[in-house]
Amino acid sequence: MTAVLEFALDTARRAGRLLCEFADRQHTIGHKSTVIDLVTEADLASERLIVDAIRTRFPDHTIQSEEGLGDLGTVVPGVPHLWLVDPLDGTVNYAHRYPMWAVSLALAEAGKVVIGVAYDPLRDEIFWAERGQGAWLDCRGNGGARLQVSTAPRLQQALLATGFPYRLAFLADNNLAEFNAAVPRAQGVRRAGAAVLDLAHVAAGRLDGYWEKHLQPWDWAAGWLLVEEAGGTVTTLDGRPWSLQENNMAATNGLIHDELLNVFRHTVVGKE
Ligand code: IPD
Ligand code: CA
Ligand code: CA
Repeated sequence: MTAVLEFALDTARRAGRLLCEFADRQHTIGHKSTVIDLVTEADLASERLIVDAIRTRFPDHTIQSEEGLGDLGTVVPGVPHLWLVDPLDGTVNYAHRYPMWAVSLALAEAGKVVIGVAYDPLRDEIFWAERGQGAWLDCRGNGGARLQVSTAPRLQQALLATGFPYRLAFLADNNLAEFNAAVPRAQGVRRAGAAVLDLAHVAAGRLDGYWEKHLQPWDWAAGWLLVEEAGGTVTTLDGRPWSLQENNMAATNGLIHDELLNVFRHTVVGKE
């Protein structure tokens, strides 16, 4: 394990513990893009911890973080060392004390994610991947087991996950058409509300596939590497190779990928 991965794991764990402490207190809640897009004191405190840790350890690295304490608003392709930070993925769940949220950290080098970490403190599960070294899960300090995507061969046997953008009420392309098309074809479709956990669970073979639209690079970066390193397939919804500049994603065990994309091919808003 490289020193930078050890740093990422330690930082994600520290941020997760902080979030657990805040979860038991009253925290101020504000709104961002829409009335359903929340930010809590805990999002900010977690981001402060992570950004300070990166700046202290890697002063020449660049940080793009959701709540804006980092350096960049948008991903600039080719930045040599770029950290993508979601200090609390699943804020709406967190604010309701619904136990599905996580810390997400990724390091990208020249546009490629090389380290991805997702920490779920409530289950004490930490998922990580290093490019070329596989994807791993340490559950309650058991040292880590290598992850492998599932073997579900068809959508009928597949449990899928998805999500919806906060602007869904104002957006024609809000994923409801895709959701309606997928639900009757899959064994089940979940909307749990934390994208990085959806992706981590695809990597762990607990879910067979995931798709979503209109997220940000910090939502997807760590999970992208987790799924690929666990042997899965990650593309755009029209089948192109995924990159940090894309605004939609399909991530599956590979076996159901074409079948899932085919469902969407006939449901994209504006097409027959
Ligand atoms: C949200 C979660 C959710 C997804 C939302 C995201 P946040 O992130 O990942 O699953 O469907 O669209 O914005 O705001 O809780 O960090
Ligand atoms: Ca997020
Ligand atoms: Ca967040």
